[in-house]
Amino acid sequence: MAQNEQNNDLMEKIVSLCKRRGFIYQGSEIYGGLAGTFDYAHYGLALKNNIKNSWWKKFVDSRRDMYGIDASIIMNSKVWEASGHVAGFSDPLVECTKCKRRFREDTLKEKGKCDDCGSPVGMPRQFNMMFATQIGAMEDSSTTVYLRPETAQGIFVNFKNTVDSFHPKLPFGIAQIGKAFRNEITPRDFIFRVREFEQMEIEYFVRENDWHKYFEYFKDEMLEWMESVGIDMNKVHELEVEIGDLAHYSKRTMDFEFEYPFGKKELFGLAYRQDFDLKNHGLEYQDEENGGKLTPHVIEPTFGVDRAVLAVLLSAYNEEDPERPFLKLKPNIAPVICAVSPLLKNKPELVEKAEMVFGMLKAEFGRVAYDDNGNIGKRYRRQDEIGTPYCIVVDFDTLGENPDLLDTVTIRDRDTGNQERVKISDLISKIKEQM
Ligand code: GAP
Repeated sequence: MAQNEQNNDLMEKIVSLCKRRGFIYQGSEIYGGLAGTFDYAHYGLALKNNIKNSWWKKFVDSRRDMYGIDASIIMNSKVWEASGHVAGFSDPLVECTKCKRRFREDTLKEKGKCDDCGSPVGMPRQFNMMFATQIGAMEDSSTTVYLRPETAQGIFVNFKNTVDSFHPKLPFGIAQIGKAFRNEITPRDFIFRVREFEQMEIEYFVRENDWHKYFEYFKDEMLEWMESVGIDMNKVHELEVEIGDLAHYSKRTMDFEFEYPFGKKELFGLAYRQDFDLKNHGLEYQDEENGGKLTPHVIEPTFGVDRAVLAVLLSAYNEEDPERPFLKLKPNIAPVICAVSPLLKNKPELVEKAEMVFGMLKAEFGRVAYDDNGNIGKRYRRQDEIGTPYCIVVDFDTLGENPDLLDTVTIRDRDTGNQERVKISDLISKIKEQM
């Protein structure tokens, strides 16, 4: 199979697995869908939450210099005027002269030609990507507001509040996980480019002279986190964004690109935003160390949650054995950490014991499944496909058919298929060791 076909094939397999096994559905699907929107189902949501929790743990909970915020999505429009988004947050839009379809100029397959019918496209014009809406009940007194296109501004506008509440010394950071919205001209590639997505962002406030040091520091921290959630680091590449392509606020940006099946494209970013935002919002910091006021400079590590989910899924998809495709998800982020089964579901004594083991593990880990559908082989395949690292089976030896094995169960490793007998009383510590 040609490389191109293989790549399309892989994307199709991921999209189909996500739908079939309850990870991700097209948004508003029963009405024909809404382009650029997706709904996370039970397993996809668990995966996404585990990714977000792992991020929060590393970048906020395990540190002393980071403060969290959960700001409103709708903000005063003056925020977006000051941040430069009203004037400059736009993409070049072109329209086909024949079929009138619209595209983002820089994503056209062939320069100057319509992706659909091949006719020439017209001159590009700047299209602002912010979603505008009205606030207030009376039409004549209503005000235009925007759904935030980045979580960063919710952090900047709370800079003074955070300093007043917590009195942090420089350097320190404010972190936020939340939704962002962009009216993308051409949403595409599943959850890669969507109109409603989530970001995990840090604005890290430093003294101007220290920016190089913290830029390098966060680059390493970002790479370490990517590896910790199972992103294939052989597919991650660093790209120094050229001066001419920098966002209006940035003096230096590094993109972390990932080799998606549809090409090498941005996964996450790291920017030196200078003092652009704080200056524009008129915010300063009282410098206890040297006296007087200063405007801190900002290092911004930014992560798209949905792109993280996609990169994790693509990294985990394993079809070395085409009969048994599975998701090699790390135990810390797998939607289900283990599944418990009775060997036979029509034997009440096996079921009772399996329910007991399930209850014990569920109370400890939460993300535990009880699976008694079909035969054991089918249960293993089903759990493999959603990336469950361990399958536990209660059999007749558990009940004491072989007295030496009383109160032990089999635990099967997803990646090797190997099974081991473990005492029920050791199960929790055995699983915890792998997390
Ligand atoms: N505050 C800086 C900022 O928003 P960005 O590069 O525009 O920078 C940050 O976005 C991250 O958000 C990207 O690296 C990407 O992971 C994610 N992202 C941006 N646009 C997206 C979209 N339309 N769909 C999904 N994720 C997106």
